[in-house]
Amino acid sequence: MKTPIFAANWKMHFGPQETRAFLTRFLALGPPTHDRTVIFFPPAVSIAVAGFALREHPEILVGVQSVHWEDKGAFTGEVSAVMARDSGAKVALVGHSERRQLFGVTDEMTARQCAAVGRAGLVPMLCVGERLDERDRGATLPVVLRQLKTGVSRLSPAQIASMAVAYEPVWAIGTGRTARPEDASVVHTAVRRALRDMIGGGADSVPILYGGSVNVETAPSLLAAAEVNGLLVGGASLDPDAWARIVCT
Ligand code: PGA
Repeated sequence: MKTPIFAANWKMHFGPQETRAFLTRFLALGPPTHDRTVIFFPPAVSIAVAGFALREHPEILVGVQSVHWEDKGAFTGEVSAVMARDSGAKVALVGHSERRQLFGVTDEMTARQCAAVGRAGLVPMLCVGERLDERDRGATLPVVLRQLKTGVSRLSPAQIASMAVAYEPVWAIGTGRTARPEDASVVHTAVRRALRDMIGGGADSVPILYGGSVNVETAPSLLAAAEVNGLLVGGASLDPDAWARIVCT
């Protein structure tokens, strides 16, 4: 597997000025070493500023948190993958649980969004994860694998081989509850197997990130778990000092 990925999902935090201040502080703490990939997902209005602040660090990527499935049109309030690319984004989150739960994003929409992201030449990072009631009734793997299979259904095998997946159990997001590393591994292993069934050996290059209340303390053991190739971090990525420590895991 490639180098570990540390992805910061800032959600609805940090406009352009705060983004500049955060990244100035983060870089002053010492830029990440080359044996890891760091990605920032700022709000769409801050993508260009983030790219500018990181211009001397092309190894640090900027991504977009959500895109529409069309390239342009009468979709007030939406941003397309083409526009995100034009702003400097290289990666796009698709199907984050907050998009699914709060904004009505369905599995079929994630398929169309992944297709738009691929068309624009960005890397889709498809988020999957079960709710607590689904986990309690033993439906974790069926739910996650359904989200995965539908989400990638409009991608070619080559596009699947160059995407990323983030497993984020909904009950662990923003709750302070983190999945145990061994529980994360069970799901990551099932995702890897499903990807292999779809595209064969190309599946081995797909990074599978874990997300959900990751912090400085829990990052090392999660990252050491089987089939965990990176971390997608919300709350703990909002403090530059804490985030710099996580990135040094
Ligand atoms: P959290 O968010 O780290 O605050 O739980 C993770 C995410 O939603 O991507």
